[in-house]
Amino acid sequence: MIILGIETSCDETAAAVLSDEGTILSNVVLSQTIHYEYGGVVPELASRAHIRTLIPIIRESLSRASVELSDLGAIAVTFGPGLVGSLLVGLSAAKAIAYALDRPFIGVNHIEGHLFANFLEHDDLRPPLIHLIVSGGHTRLIHQPEMGRYRLLGQTLDDAAGESFDKVAKMLEIGYPGGPQIDRLSEQGDECFVDFPRAYLSGDSLDFSFSGLKTAVLNYLQPLDGDQIREHLADIAASFQAAVVEVLVEKTFRAAREHRIETVAVAGGVACNRRLRRELKQRADREGMTVRFPSPLLCTDNAAMIAAAGRFHLLQGDRSPLDLNAVANIDMQPAPAA
Ligand code: KG4
Ligand code: ZN
Repeated sequence: MIILGIETSCDETAAAVLSDEGTILSNVVLSQTIHYEYGGVVPELASRAHIRTLIPIIRESLSRASVELSDLGAIAVTFGPGLVGSLLVGLSAAKAIAYALDRPFIGVNHIEGHLFANFLEHDDLRPPLIHLIVSGGHTRLIHQPEMGRYRLLGQTLDDAAGESFDKVAKMLEIGYPGGPQIDRLSEQGDECFVDFPRAYLSGDSLDFSFSGLKTAVLNYLQPLDGDQIREHLADIAASFQAAVVEVLVEKTFRAAREHRIETVAVAGGVACNRRLRRELKQRADREGMTVRFPSPLLCTDNAAMIAAAGRFHLLQGDRSPLDLNAVANIDMQPAPAA
């Protein structure tokens, strides 16, 4: 079954086509740049931009995959979590295509989509797994005992990991999105320059909190003038990044140890971060474990991962009703059945 995937939950307009065998035939992602001048995503602008660009992006994905609309066997689309106005654009387009072609339609949970990026790229990856999902909107540790079953072990109590990168980058005035900038700058910085706090929370908690760290960076910057900040920009960025990464790595391996799981899969935009990848890899090597990441294009929001998660559900016989609604806040639940 050839599947068209559509993703419009935030500020990426994306469409992808998967082959009968589930391999990627095309994966087109348009990152909206309209938000850069505001230092964050403006929901109303995001949905308007999706309306303008989604149909051309879908056409491009079909053309790159060398398939016609009529070749499609099913349509998969993100139904939540995300910005409701943005989700509705993708959802409406997907329903219209499915209805017009009389093909099955499936709503995909965006977080489950991120997790499927690893299954798309690593054929041999099988549960049981610990997943670390780190993006602009989510920071979650998930235990997956078998395909299709998930247990949330921990999540952020305030800012998501990517959100903290974006907010600190804004304080440092180095642009949006902040993660890639901080990652790049940190490569030349001294991570021991500032000893920022690590929030491990009480006892053996697997939850995260990044708002204290964000405030610590703000308090550190407040007495400094522009020249002092610029002189040590890379050091401050590296010190902040080290504090985020240390907690993410520690809690991920704690979760793996507690559940006696030997393979960790990391996904979401922050999974692009070079220090996070390095530290997880070193720790896994030391402990005789395995860690998997998707390639960078599949870490950040894309529609191939949505099509892959949709494919899994479709092959199980799941279908969504054409009156499926967008849901802004949702945990790991799948879409209601048709
Ligand atoms: O998964 P994603 O594209 O969208 C959401 O579902 O939120 O993640 C975007 C987030 C942004 O916060 C961005 O700053 C962060 O991922 N990000 C990074 C890096 N690349 C993207 N954070 C740290 N290091 C990176 N290299
Ligand atoms: Zn995402």
